[in-house]
Amino acid sequence: MPARAAAPPVVVPEPTRSAAPAGASGRSVLILGGTSAIAVAIAEALLGQQSGPVVVAARDLDRAEVVADRLRSAGATEAFTIRFNGAEVHEAERVVAEAVQLLKRVDVVIVAFGNYVDSDGLAGDLEATLDLVTLNFLGAIAVGEALTDVLRSQRSGRIIAVSSRPNGWTMEHAGTYAASKAGFDTYFASLAVSLRPVGADVLVIRPPGVNTPLIENHSSFLTPEEVAVEVVQAFSDGMAELTILSREERRLARRSFPRKLLGRVRRDMRKVSRRIGV
Ligand SMILES: NC(=O)c1ccc[n+]([C@@H]2O[C@H](COP(=O)([O-])OP(=O)(O)OC[C@H]3O[C@@H](n4cnc5c(N)ncnc54)[C@H](OP(=O)(O)O)[C@@H]3O)[C@@H](O)[C@H]2O)c1
Repeated sequence: MPARAAAPPVVVPEPTRSAAPAGASGRSVLILGGTSAIAVAIAEALLGQQSGPVVVAARDLDRAEVVADRLRSAGATEAFTIRFNGAEVHEAERVVAEAVQLLKRVDVVIVAFGNYVDSDGLAGDLEATLDLVTLNFLGAIAVGEALTDVLRSQRSGRIIAVSSRPNGWTMEHAGTYAASKAGFDTYFASLAVSLRPVGADVLVIRPPGVNTPLIENHSSFLTPEEVAVEVVQAFSDGMAELTILSREERRLARRSFPRKLLGRVRRDMRKVSRRIGV
C-alpha cells in the first residue's frame, strides 16, 4: 500500500464559543453530521449523564449554531461549530484534526451524517447514485480512518456509528442505501475489534424507522429521543453493537414474552455482551 500523504496544515477558523469558561473539563463529544436529529438526541442524553465540551460539525454553520445552542442548554460546557461536508472525503482528516484541536481530547464521536434516497429519487441517475454511496460509505470510511489515528494516539475514546436496520437487506426500492449502509456497518464493526486493544472502542447502532427529516414520517416510527435512551444505555453498558427494535417488534415481543422475562433476557444479554466484548 502506498504511504499516506502528509496532512496539510490545519487552519482553524474562529470558532463560536459558549459563555462557559474555556478549558472546562468533562466528557467531550464530536458530532459529525451535527444537525442529525438522532445524533442531537444522543448528544443531549449523553450531556444529561455528564457535561463536557461539544463540537457540532455540519454543512450549514447557521443550523449547526442552532444545535450548539440546544446542546449548551442541555449542559455542554462549551459548544463549537465547524464546517463539515461528509462527501468531501479528502477533507475528513482536516476536519477531524480541527475538532481535536478545539476539544484537546475526544471522548465520544457520533458519526451520523448520511442520506436516504430510494430508487424513485435516484431515477436511474448514476451521478446521484454514486453521490449517495460516496456520502454514506466512502465519507464514513474517510472519517473512520482519521478518527482511528486520533483514538490510537489518545489510547481512548469511543465512536457511536449510526448504521441502520436495513443495512445489507435485499431491498427492491432502496438497494443502494442498504448496500452503502452495509459497508458502513461492516467497516465500523471491524474498527471496534482493531481499536479495542489500544483502549478505544466503537458502538455500532442500528435504528429502525425514526421520525426525522431524513425520511417520510410514519406514526409507527420511533422518536429520536426513544432511540437516544437505548443508545446511552448501551453506551454505559459498554456494548459494541445495538440493534434497536421497531415499535411493532416491541409490541410483538411483549405479547410473546411476559414483561418480566423480557427484562431478564435483556439484562442477561447485556451481561454476556459485556463479558465477551461484543
Ligand atoms: N431516520 C431513520 O429512519 C433512520 C433509520 C436508521 C438509520 N438512520 C441513519 O441515521 C443517520 C442520521 O439520520 P437522521 O435520521 O438523524 O436524519 P437527519 O436529521 O436528516 O440527519 C441526516 C444528517 O446527515 C447530514 N448530511 C447529509 N449530507 C451531508 C453531507 N454531504 N455532509 C455532512 N452532513 C451531511 C445532514 O446534514 P444537513 O442538515 O446539512 O442536511 C443531517 O445532519 C443517517 O446516517 C441515517 O442513515 C436513520
